[in-house]
Amino acid sequence: MKMRTEALTKIYDSRTGSSEKIIGAQDVNITLEKGEIIGLFGYSGSGKSTLGQMLSGLLKPTSGKIFYDETEISYPFRGNARKNIQVLFQHPEVSFNPALPLIKSMVEPYRLYGLEYSEEILIDSIERFGLHKEHLLRKPSELSGGELQRAALSRILTLEPDVIILDEPTSMLDVISQGQIINMLREYRDHRGASYVFISHNRTLCEMVCDRIYHVEHGMVTAE
Ligand SMILES: Nc1ncnc2c1ncn2[C@@H]1O[C@H](COP(=O)(O)OP(=O)(O)OP(=O)(O)O)[C@@H](O)[C@H]1O
Ligand SMILES: [Mg+2]
Repeated sequence: MKMRTEALTKIYDSRTGSSEKIIGAQDVNITLEKGEIIGLFGYSGSGKSTLGQMLSGLLKPTSGKIFYDETEISYPFRGNARKNIQVLFQHPEVSFNPALPLIKSMVEPYRLYGLEYSEEILIDSIERFGLHKEHLLRKPSELSGGELQRAALSRILTLEPDVIILDEPTSMLDVISQGQIINMLREYRDHRGASYVFISHNRTLCEMVCDRIYHVEHGMVTAE
């Protein structure tokens, strides 16, 4: 098993300072096999992103456990887990520094993880995603949503993750760009044997993409 959770729970404090608590996730037990795509389906506010952020190491759980390759990992993730578990968001602009040309952000994973880098290597990797050198010289706001999402995908795949958390990565895109991203993800999974957690409020899309779907409601998760 690639990843699993045990009674994973997130309780947010209310900003009003009252003792009222907001349940983000409650006692969530999910499993993710190698090469599997699981869906987290649920309506707005049900707790999908809360779960996705805990699974990607961006949010500290209130209680419960996360296991990766049968080893318990905790916030903030380190080492292997940090490199191998990546996340793609609904709004790709959050992954990039808005003030800088794209190339600055695209170089980061190479530098952070000491990977072999040259401009040629970078250009080669973005060309597989239908992007070109010229795109790299623009600021994030000067690319289309689909282009930026492909750049974000190219950037995380540089690290060759084996788990990708996809938090509504195509919900801002038109059907063609959505299809492109999903095909790229399928290709990568077939090549790497990677596992995905696919978060969506679109049931048809979930059924199309996922091997198995969990239903999220009021922070609680049930297998479908
Ligand atoms: N930082 C926070 N502080 C307080 N409450 C939060 C915080 N983040 C999320 N919540 C609350 O937790 C619940 C779950 O939110 P979450 O973002 O996980 O839902 P979601 O299923 O991803 O919704 P959407 O489909 O709209 O993205 C909601 O009631 C939300 O208001
Ligand atoms: Mg969300």
